Amino acid sequence: MNAEIRNWIQIGSLEDIPRQGARCVKTRGMTVAVFRTATDDVFALEDKCPHKKGPLSQGIVHDGCVTCPLHNWVISLETGAAQGADDGRTLAFPVRLEDSRIYIDLSHSHEAV
Ligand code: FES
Repeated sequence: MNAEIRNWIQIGSLEDIPRQGARCVKTRGMTVAVFRTATDDVFALEDKCPHKKGPLSQGIVHDGCVTCPLHNWVISLETGAAQGADDGRTLAFPVRLEDSRIYIDLSHSHEAV
């Protein structure tokens, strides 16, 4: 169906992540935070705030965003971009859900959507 080549890596199941929470996956020298929203959407961002590298996985998930626990920057879960007046972006990775199994593709990070 889709000819686009992806390198999907299975990293667990939806049930492994609490709603409005996150779970970290360490890979390729990087920590990726995988977030689950209140409506069971899943997103993956490098676990590094674009401000001063705060652990986004420990932030508060709300409205398609995560609020960094260090200085409250709000980061889009979809794009990794800082919201509002703040400027910066963390890497965001494609996520696929299949029968509650979560796959991420670390070879493609989202830039501007
Ligand atoms: S490190 Fe995230 S807001 Fe400062």
